[in-house]
Amino acid sequence: MYTLSRETLDEGPEVEALFDTCFAPGREALSSYRLRDGVPPVAELCVVARDDLAIVAGAVRFWPVQVGGAGALLLGPIAVHPTRQGEGLGGLLMDAGLRAAAGAGWRRTLLVGDAPYYSKFGFVPLTGVQMPPPTNPARVLGHGDWADISGTVMRWGA
Ligand SMILES: CC(C)(COP(=O)(O)OP(=O)(O)OC[C@H]1O[C@@H](n2cnc3c(N)ncnc32)[C@H](O)[C@@H]1OP(=O)(O)O)[C@@H](O)C(=O)NCCC(=O)NCCS
Repeated sequence: MYTLSRETLDEGPEVEALFDTCFAPGREALSSYRLRDGVPPVAELCVVARDDLAIVAGAVRFWPVQVGGAGALLLGPIAVHPTRQGEGLGGLLMDAGLRAAAGAGWRRTLLVGDAPYYSKFGFVPLTGVQMPPPTNPARVLGHGDWADISGTVMRWGA
């Protein structure tokens, strides 16, 4: 059993340690991190999953970005500890995050990831939206209302 709750400031180091475990070294060199530099995450949407012993098992964060003059959410990082993968926790985190985003009035979300996994949650390729290079365009996926939105993903407030 997992308990999902909003990530607090105190939990930041534990969540960072989880991401370090789950991603290859140098993850912060990815272009998506340049969109996060100096911009706080959308705190009310960031979710941590803990097991019965209160050990962090998974987490997801969201950042605000701009595309073609419109606001959007950048989903990620999302990760589940390697010993907990394949139990459905990634799906729980996705559902909780996307539900909270819709409840908070966000109309669209994008991420950079594998379409075969994220299509299960309604993500589709965004052909008119470009992430800063180097990003494989086929991995830029969107959820929600992307009609008439196109352009390069920019840092919030840029
Ligand atoms: C991606 C991740 C969050 C999924 O979490 P999870 O708890 O294992 O996911 P779920 O249990 O909800 O779903 C598991 C299913 O998704 C599939 N899946 C997981 N990652 C996938 C991927 N990258 N591409 C295609 N399918 C994937 C699994 O094969 C499994 O399929 P099955 O149900 O048919 O057996 C987790 O694998 C993870 O942390 N990976 C390392 C970090 C990462 O790559 N994060 C995403 C960055 S884009």
